Order: sequence, then C-alpha cells, then structure tokens
Amino acid sequence: MKRIAVVTSGGDAPGMNACIRAIVRSAVYQDLTVFGVNRGYYGLIYHDFISLNVNSVGDIIHRGGTILRTSRAKEFREESMRIRAKEALQYFGVKNLIVIGGNGSLAGAYELSKLGVNVIGIPASIDNDVPGTENAIGFDTAVNTVLDAINRIRDTATSHERIFIIEVMGRKSGQIALAAGLAGGAESILVPEIPYDLSNVVERINAGIARGKLHSIIVVAEGCCSAMVLGQEIEKLSQQETKVTFLGHTQRGGMPTASDRILASRMGKKAVDLVLEGFTNKMVAMQGNQLVAIDIADVVQGSREIDWTEYELARILSI
Ligand code: F6P
Repeated sequence: MKRIAVVTSGGDAPGMNACIRAIVRSAVYQDLTVFGVNRGYYGLIYHDFISLNVNSVGDIIHRGGTILRTSRAKEFREESMRIRAKEALQYFGVKNLIVIGGNGSLAGAYELSKLGVNVIGIPASIDNDVPGTENAIGFDTAVNTVLDAINRIRDTATSHERIFIIEVMGRKSGQIALAAGLAGGAESILVPEIPYDLSNVVERINAGIARGKLHSIIVVAEGCCSAMVLGQEIEKLSQQETKVTFLGHTQRGGMPTASDRILASRMGKKAVDLVLEGFTNKMVAMQGNQLVAIDIADVVQGSREIDWTEYELARILSI
C-alpha cells in the first residue's frame, strides 16, 4: 500500500485538525497508509512519526490547534537538516508528504521538493497571506474571534465614551485587520500595506465625536505600527482618553468556524486526490470557490495583496 505522511508546521490555525481528519479519512478510503509527523519539521528531522487511522482522527473536527502539534523549526533552514528529513521519509517508506501551514512552512516544503521529495501544500494560516489562494484555513475563525472582541469592546467603549485601539495579528499583512474592522464597523483600520496618516485618524475621531458618536474603534494590524505608541499620539492630539487592547494569541485558538471546517475538509481531500493523480510540488488553492492546484514555486515567489475595494468600502462606511 502506498504510504503518505502529513505534517502541520508553523503557527497553528483553527481547522488544522479538520484538515488532518480529511486527509486521513480520504486516504484510508483510497487504501493508502498514513503517517502523522509530530511537532512540525522537527518531527521530520528527528523521526517523530506516528501511524494514523480512521479512529485516530475521530472527535477532532471541532478542536482548535493541531493534534500533531507544531513548531517553527529553525534548523530546517539548513540543507543538512532537510536531507535528514528526506531520509526519514525514505526510512518510513513514505512517497508523498502533505504539508499544512503558512508561508514559512510552504517555503520549507518547496526546499524539500528541490531535494526530490514529493510534496503537496495546504495553506493554513490565520494571517491569510499565502499567495495564490483566496482563503487559508484558520482565517475565518480568527476574524470571528476578533469580531467577538470588537463587539465586547464596543459596549464598554460606548459606556465610557472612549477611544479604543485594538491590535490584531497578521504579521506583515492587514488581512485580519481589514476583515474584522469592516465587519465590526471600526472607525479606522490601519494596515501595513498603507502608511497611516495620524492627523486623518484623529480628524475622523473628532468628526465622529462632533456628530455625537459615543465611541471610536481603531483596528490596527500588528505589522503596521505600535498600538501603544499610536494610542499615546492619539490621546495627545485628540485630548480624549484612549485605551489599547492586544488580542494576541487568543486569535490563534478556539473552535474552528463551520466555514473553516468545510474549507479544511475540502482542501484535505483535494490534497489526497492530487497525490493519487500523480501531482507533486503543488499547493491546493481556493480560487473563485473552486479548488485548484498551483505550483508551490509560484506560491513561494508570489505576494498577496489586500482587497482594495473592501478597504475603500470600510473607509466610506465608517464616516
Ligand atoms: O502567522 C501566524 C501568526 O499568529 C502571526 O499573525 C503572528 O505574527 C505570529 O504567528 C506569532 O507567532 P508566534 O506564536 O510564534 O509568536
């Protein structure tokens, strides 16, 4: 029986478990043998493999995190370590490796493919910054977690007539800030993709107060600027009390939304289909609600923009 392996790598993302489940169950359905690699690329380097069957992935579809655990394995940047990883796969007789992760993990998969390992990537990152795919697993859940926080903060912000700055994750990307800010009706959304104009942010706050608004919510992507410094600057210029909230790793955990579970299930099955059809060095991508296979090389060299029409929409609606 053909043997495949699955690894989750980099920052965990809600829906990774649903994806592992989909891979294992669709692979077993097609008579494949599946191994799980523990602790991301460390597990590949240090031969930490486990056997996965239909039962091992029971009762996990609703769980955040990853049952395989994960890591940011710095050693993997060294070719000697990637050669060890290739040897581990050979030792276990594994012919194909499915990597579930974000940009760093997919770059690692690409490097492995250059050594002759057959890889298929699945984009999973709350940041939703993987080039070539409209959606990555975990993004929808993270956005809903941020939205829940915005809703709560809005209550207290209104009661105290305060300005709130909410810093969200996203590394160098403003995807989470934009989606949550748009859905949450934020007064300003600051993303790393556009240099922010402090006087404009304060003008919008002042205009809101003049119109009788009882609160101001500013969503800031972590890659944009320091929320703490921004808060101090706004307080100075607006003469209004300003509070700063960091949502941090709360955004990475929690039950995956229905949307993430469905995306993860579809992508996991698609990855197994690609293996069976003989594709290698591809990433499963969502384009126009269709799953397609794109070259991992293009993903690694590409970049992903934010949706400028959504950005403009948020700006207009928050006057
Ligand atoms: O890539 C996902 C992410 O949560 C980013 O938004 C954030 O910058 C980073 O990971 C944090 O990583 P770590 O948990 O390793 O500190």
